[in-house]
Amino acid sequence: MEHGEEPSLCAESAKVIARTRWKLLAKVLHKTEKENDESSSHHLVVPTTTSRELYGLFEWAESESKVFWQDNCGQWLQCRSFNHPHFSLNVRFLINQFSIDELTGFNNTGNVCVWPSEEVLAYYCLKNNYVFKEKAVLELGGGMTCLASFAVAKTSDAILVACTDGNPASVENVKRIIEHNNLSSTCPITAQVLDWKNESSFREMESMWDVILCADCLFFDDGREALVDTMQRITTNNGLILIMAPRRGRTLDAFLELCQGKFDIYLDEEFDGDVTLSHQKKLLSSDYNSDHNYPLLVQLRKR
Ligand SMILES: C[S@@+](CC[C@H](N)C(=O)[O-])C[C@H]1O[C@@H](n2cnc3c(N)ncnc32)[C@H](O)[C@@H]1O
Repeated sequence: MEHGEEPSLCAESAKVIARTRWKLLAKVLHKTEKENDESSSHHLVVPTTTSRELYGLFEWAESESKVFWQDNCGQWLQCRSFNHPHFSLNVRFLINQFSIDELTGFNNTGNVCVWPSEEVLAYYCLKNNYVFKEKAVLELGGGMTCLASFAVAKTSDAILVACTDGNPASVENVKRIIEHNNLSSTCPITAQVLDWKNESSFREMESMWDVILCADCLFFDDGREALVDTMQRITTNNGLILIMAPRRGRTLDAFLELCQGKFDIYLDEEFDGDVTLSHQKKLLSSDYNSDHNYPLLVQLRKR
């Protein structure tokens, strides 16, 4: 790990991150308005719902019947895995117009798109689904899709999967996805609000979960300590926490510093050949900001 960066550098990278996010959000809003104007149900523009920064590990398409469908504030797409044909899921994306208040509230980041870390975590879970055999699995901050949870629920022998986020709108969306895909028939699965900063939302989960999943949740400066505390409290002794997150300035290091003494820590920059290949291709493009996007795998073992 690289430590000892100057605080001013950290503040500078925070500004860059904020600027990048605002650009992406502005793009999302612009695209949504354009689609409403065109009012054609066949005008499907995938980047409004899935980030263009994804690693191409899943195919996002119209439904099998080729009928693109939308409900009042949701857009449904079928998600398939190129390498795992047994994985297919209809995913609902929120297409709300965001108010300025909602945009500036950090909790809404999970309702913008699937972020690359979630895509990569879901892919990793598919490929390593033996990890979840007979385990109780919970995802923290899964956003509006909780894609990694669904990869586990659909393809592993987990005994229970819980999809969680602090944002009630994300959780409602996840409930719709569970219902629509009839996921409870293959594995007991729930969706519920769990806010790391609100102890009452996880008080009854003390030492309950064998495996915790978490994607792109380490950059909230004011939530990092609560996140580490939540992970420590709800994981079983010797339980495993699988995290995908980009380095993003000093944010990943700051998280790892908080984990020291509480967990055994393993940090992996190259953990999957397909992800590495896609990352290397992206490095050829001048647009690609790997510090901001490329997820590293962090594995924590509770002591
Ligand atoms: C960048 S998004 C990542 C969402 C999803 N994992 C993905 O990668 O697509 C960060 C997520 O953290 C959630 N979050 C932020 N603060 C939280 C808190 N205190 N408790 C629970 N979830 C929180 C947000 O609601 C959001 O869904």
